[in-house]
Amino acid sequence: MPREAPQNPSSRSPATQARARGGRGTGSRLGDLTRDWGTSAAISLYLERCQVATPERLVEAAWRHVTDARSVIGKVVDFGAGDGRFSRFGRYEHYLGYKIDDAAFEHAVVPKRARLLNQCAFWDEINDADVCVGNPPFVRNQDLPRGWRERASSVLRRRTGVSLSGLANAWQYFFLLGLASTKSDGLCDPPRLS
Ligand SMILES: C[S@@+](CC[C@H](N)C(=O)[O-])C[C@H]1O[C@@H](n2cnc3c(N)ncnc32)[C@H](O)[C@@H]1O
Repeated sequence: MPREAPQNPSSRSPATQARARGGRGTGSRLGDLTRDWGTSAAISLYLERCQVATPERLVEAAWRHVTDARSVIGKVVDFGAGDGRFSRFGRYEHYLGYKIDDAAFEHAVVPKRARLLNQCAFWDEINDADVCVGNPPFVRNQDLPRGWRERASSVLRRRTGVSLSGLANAWQYFFLLGLASTKSDGLCDPPRLS
């Protein structure tokens, strides 16, 4: 089951809090999510490279860009949500954010209309989003764990018919995921910020 950030972090059970504190070792949430990705060195390198926090003014600028193009927005997806900061701006009905690692998840506070899932973005199959926003990881191909790349490529090949070459960087995988997850008249706007 995916782990979801409650609106009130202090309401979590001690067991949930302990799991959230867990590292990437056996039995931890992150360990489970990344089990097939590759060596622990490769996974740590990838996760380190991902940790870029978007300054608020850029989050606001990205939303301005979106709302210039769309005045009414129903469902928003964010496939590298971090602490869910993109959910705190913009006018929309629902936001669904994915985050792979536990860092910042425990302290994430999201509005009531937003849900933040501690889960790999490539697991779920969404195809009805109006908008895809966020700042997905920009990690070069050499630093993508082999298992991560294989799984993401096969999901994208099945869903879009596109076969990414081994030279693609993480942003390209996430952008294709955004295209596959938005409606035919949807908007995919994850800028390359990192
Ligand atoms: C560049 S950071 C942006 C974080 C936040 N959205 C922000 O703008 O500050 C990218 C985020 O994507 C997350 N991430 C990387 N791979 C992921 C995956 N397969 N599924 C879900 N989240 C992932 C990382 O943990 C990191 O939090």
